[in-house]
Amino acid sequence: MANENKLQAIIGHCKEYGYVFQSSEIYDGLSAVYDYGQNGAELKRNIRDYWWRSMTQMHENIVGIDAAIFMHPTVWKASGHVDNFSDPMIDNKDSKKRYRVDHLIEAHAETLATEAKDTLLAQMDALLANNDFAGLKQLIEDNKIKCGVSGTGNWTDVRQFNLMFSTQVGSVAEEASEIYLRPETAQGIFVNFLNVQKTGRMKIPFGIAQTGKAFRNEIVARGFIFRMREFEQMEMQFFVRPGTQKEWYEYWKEARMKWHLSLGIPQDSYRFHDHVKLAHYADAACDIEYDFPMGFKEVEGVHSRTDFDLTEHQKYSGKKLTYFDTDINQHYVPYVIETSIGLDRAVMMVLSHAYKEEDLSTPEKQDSRVVLSLPPMLAPIKLAVLPLTKKDGLPELARELMEQCKPYFRCFYEEKDAIGKRYRRQDAIGTPFCVTIDHQTKEDQTVTIRYRDSMLQERIPLAAVIDLIIEKTKMF
Ligand code: GAP
Repeated sequence: MANENKLQAIIGHCKEYGYVFQSSEIYDGLSAVYDYGQNGAELKRNIRDYWWRSMTQMHENIVGIDAAIFMHPTVWKASGHVDNFSDPMIDNKDSKKRYRVDHLIEAHAETLATEAKDTLLAQMDALLANNDFAGLKQLIEDNKIKCGVSGTGNWTDVRQFNLMFSTQVGSVAEEASEIYLRPETAQGIFVNFLNVQKTGRMKIPFGIAQTGKAFRNEIVARGFIFRMREFEQMEMQFFVRPGTQKEWYEYWKEARMKWHLSLGIPQDSYRFHDHVKLAHYADAACDIEYDFPMGFKEVEGVHSRTDFDLTEHQKYSGKKLTYFDTDINQHYVPYVIETSIGLDRAVMMVLSHAYKEEDLSTPEKQDSRVVLSLPPMLAPIKLAVLPLTKKDGLPELARELMEQCKPYFRCFYEEKDAIGKRYRRQDAIGTPFCVTIDHQTKEDQTVTIRYRDSMLQERIPLAAVIDLIIEKTKMF
């Protein structure tokens, strides 16, 4: 399937099967904001749980916290977000449409032959690196780049546009002060570094993990849940002794790639992209890119952030944020390796890999199905319990099994429609196992279990169902 078609098919499927809805859809939606439906919310929660447990439960030296979205405004001054968290933008005076300059030039470059494209992108990179806004505007004009809406090249100057959302805290306007909705969860970890280190008696090297919402006023938001204005991050800051950051950076690069592969997604769907132009706080950084329907794009970042954040918070707060290392009898500000993955991007990655349209035609009959081959540990519903018919005591037996399963995993009961149709509906939702209760169940206490991916069916004892599903859907 062509990539654009695959993206559209996934978006349609997500809506049809309760995964993702446009926010405020009855009011025609809110751009780049999405809601998770009954199945999407479960899938997202399972990915979050898997990440959380991989970090905290599986590492004795990593603990998790849950910091507030609102933080003291000086946090964002110290972190550099007030001054640096911005993108160069340009507006078309006729259509009033605003563009991120790099996206506008990149879109134009895509229409050019390879050599011209490479030259244009190299020119753009050089101008961006020097923050040369006049030069960027000139480049847009020289290349006669037009607005997609008005079709004109009537541009404003290029200006920086901060991506943070701000709001007022306080009841009356005079007393109110401006605060920001956090654009990353990481700063909640940095400002709690000493609280956690002291109360948890943590010894370096150790990590603090956190999941939670972040907000960015993305100007060009596209690619479904890939780039949103309200999204969720799963971040971990790993505090290390200065001088050891390179080896820990390599360690976490490898560890995070292993985590990705453990989702059942093959190695050739991933690649590392090492940053050449480093952020002001980093001494090494890379993205883990996944081959989305729109091509290879960042799903996670691994950053060696030096001691930048803690040092800045020391400076702005006037509080010491040092650690006493008893092994070497020294006080120091720890260095930090950060792993930062977008939860919504992880959901989109898992869905992109799982979505399959299969042709099941035989010489006798045309047939096809849409299946979400989600890893069983992440599937919203682990087991569908299906009585073959609505009579002869089969629904009662199926209900009994449902009640027994409920405390252990999420299951779903359905008695309407032919069994084949019910199987296909569960395939589309991504349910890995279906159990059918039939007349034979009454005689010998066995059931038919059907496996989503192979569509194979086998008979197993009714009493073995719970253990089998627990075994096949466990995370570790
Ligand atoms: N603390 C470091 C940090 O925030 P980042 O590269 O800006 O680094 C980390 O973001 C991850 O957050 C990205 O790899 C991506 O998965 C996710 N992310 C960033 N902006 C996003 C957006 N607008 N929508 C969805 N996910 C986003």
